[in-house]
Amino acid sequence: MHRKTLTQFLVEQQRREAALPSQLRLLIEIVARACKAISISVNKGSLGGVLGDFGSENVQGEAQKKLDVIANERLLEANEWGGHLAAMASEEMETIHLIPNRYPKGEYLLLFDPIDGSSNVDVNLSVGTIFSVLRAPADASGREVTEQDFLQSGRHQVAAGYAVFGPQTSLVLSVGTGVYEFTLDREMGSWVLTQERLRIPAGNREFAINMSNERHWAEPVRRYIADCMAGSDGPRKTNFNMRWTGSMVADIHRILKRGGIFLYPWDGRDPAKPGKLRLMYEANPMAYLIEQAGGKAVDNTKRIMDLEPQGLHQRVGVIMGDRGEVEQLSRYFR
Ligand code: AHG
Ligand code: MN
Ligand code: MN
Repeated sequence: MHRKTLTQFLVEQQRREAALPSQLRLLIEIVARACKAISISVNKGSLGGVLGDFGSENVQGEAQKKLDVIANERLLEANEWGGHLAAMASEEMETIHLIPNRYPKGEYLLLFDPIDGSSNVDVNLSVGTIFSVLRAPADASGREVTEQDFLQSGRHQVAAGYAVFGPQTSLVLSVGTGVYEFTLDREMGSWVLTQERLRIPAGNREFAINMSNERHWAEPVRRYIADCMAGSDGPRKTNFNMRWTGSMVADIHRILKRGGIFLYPWDGRDPAKPGKLRLMYEANPMAYLIEQAGGKAVDNTKRIMDLEPQGLHQRVGVIMGDRGEVEQLSRYFR
């Protein structure tokens, strides 16, 4: 059977009306290649000396794993020379990374979470890489890009995606024409299209939330989850199942393929942190994919992609997945 590779897919997207610009096509090919390299490091595990802590903290005060640092380096190096970017930003870097002067500059801004779910890495569970693409503001050509230029709401994303390093290595992406899944063929070394126009299956009664935070949640979220937990004896009159992997990529991947709802909601623990997940390189790209797959993504009541970002590492409450279920939860806020 003939299977389409990522390259073929991108060329086809480029040829269609509303063509994929060539810089964006190159960007996606380069990110996909970097994800392959990251996958190789992840797979080596102890044999590659890549497990454990790096011995430093990132800007958010979180201990960096060796793989956080390795994956960040891979993405930076891969994306510097192609002439497709004006700058990059990452969970692992305090401020933005400008393209060095020896390379031409391009029109896009790339943001990433090099390793998502990094606490999983040392225990051989799924992790991933998340990325989001914005356009540099029109007035940024001919001057240095600033952090402010990145602070665009998620609806301005022109592409987003993730790689998940699990039993299979998959790349899930959207350039605004639906969600496509590619699986890494290790013998061929290429990404092969394995699912087109992914749609979130409706009605799967499965929720993903870290229950240990229950006492910190807002009242509506507490009531919603309590009603799910009450199962067929409760107001929802149906039993729910629960899954929590500790890696947003893995949980969102499951929801895209099988349905259900993901929550890392706002909680009251620390007024400086309205949620755990970061808007610019976790919530926004995932919201983009979820919406492209027919789902819905909100913080509490507002669409995530309409939020006006205040900072590169800003945190946000996240509720996303099956449209019907997200709307069900929204009723608890009214
Ligand atoms: P990261 O490893 O990039 O810091 O992200 C981890 C995030 C996310 O992937 C996951 O859903 C969540 O943190 C898990 O949080 P808990 O440890 O509270 O379960
Ligand atoms: Mn993450
Ligand atoms: Mn991370």
